[in-house]
Amino acid sequence: MRRALVTGCAGFIGSHLSERLVAEGWQVVGVDAFTPYYDRDDKLDNLGALDGSPRFMLVEGDLCTLDLEPLLEDAPVVFHLAAQPGVRLSFGEGFARYTADNMLATQRVFEAAAAAGCRRVVWASSSSVYGDAAAYPCIEAETPTSPRSPYGVTKRACEDLADIYRGQGLETVGLRYFTVYGPRQRPDMAMRILCESLLEGTPFPLYGDGGQSRDFTHVADAVDATYRAGLADDPAAIYNVGGGHEATLADVILTLEDLAGRRAVLDHRPDQAGDVRRTAADTTRAREDLGWAASVGLRDGLRSELDWVMARRKALSAATRSKRAAAVAG
Ligand SMILES: NC(=O)c1ccc[n+]([C@@H]2O[C@H](COP(=O)([O-])OP(=O)(O)OC[C@H]3O[C@@H](n4cnc5c(N)ncnc54)[C@H](O)[C@@H]3O)[C@@H](O)[C@H]2O)c1
Repeated sequence: MRRALVTGCAGFIGSHLSERLVAEGWQVVGVDAFTPYYDRDDKLDNLGALDGSPRFMLVEGDLCTLDLEPLLEDAPVVFHLAAQPGVRLSFGEGFARYTADNMLATQRVFEAAAAAGCRRVVWASSSSVYGDAAAYPCIEAETPTSPRSPYGVTKRACEDLADIYRGQGLETVGLRYFTVYGPRQRPDMAMRILCESLLEGTPFPLYGDGGQSRDFTHVADAVDATYRAGLADDPAAIYNVGGGHEATLADVILTLEDLAGRRAVLDHRPDQAGDVRRTAADTTRAREDLGWAASVGLRDGLRSELDWVMARRKALSAATRSKRAAAVAG
């Protein structure tokens, strides 16, 4: 039976990846520190489908201090997704968190995986390493990396760390994810906030003019690329994982308004520090080496996220109602 260690298993992408691995018959150990970036209960909910599965074991712990040796005894494939994500908070005092959860944690994972004789670590880099590129789409072997945020710098540093351990015989495969979205998207991400705003009728903070574009990647596609990277023969050190659906934020607002049947209330704000104007991925390398191609179209993908946000709101309000009823009865 194939074995995997998934770090960041309770997060957005990590929980979907863990489900995919279990569904494919793998034995999965998941590590997560339940960092306070967003609600612990949200992360526990992310793990809901894995609850009770004999193929999944959760270890709660911080990769900056956790003894990884016992978790790597049978040399699993490591999928290292844990990190402190988000661009905005990486400025100022927040950077300390990013250096720990991104750079230190990643160095410890590479070090421990190499010592345990693991064959491969597939890990999450980011499109943020490109910054504002001179030409699009970005190509791994050609486009220089020039991050515009401290977050991007930590991911860039992790790519350098990966090269060092790769030089020592550890296969590292870094995936530059381009704006991943879909069910369970992190609550700090624009699409999720927009879905919540549309359903609640509250203002959506629109930073900049809405003309900034992203190569949106549905989480099912991001997970598929990640899974394939764990199995591929002789993979490269870095792959772009972009959904091939570049759209502006203004386009996304229009599509979600159409799907929700409501107009968004926009709260216009200035550009955010660290935000790039455009992202777009050339995914030829992932197609050729991993046999991967994105399959979820933007409208269908947005619908899947909106439906999830709607279902979650219903479940939460039902839970609140039954708590209130219990309190009245008590
Ligand atoms: N979501 C995106 O659009 C996107 C884009 C580019 C790159 N990425 C990268 O993909 C990965 C997953 O992102 P996500 O959106 O699922 O984020 P997420 O915050 O939902 O998941 C990350 C998980 O890692 C855990 N974690 C953080 N630091 C830890 C530590 N020191 N020890 C153990 N666990 C720790 C957190 O508790 C969290 O559950 C991250 O590395 C992120 O930087 C995400």
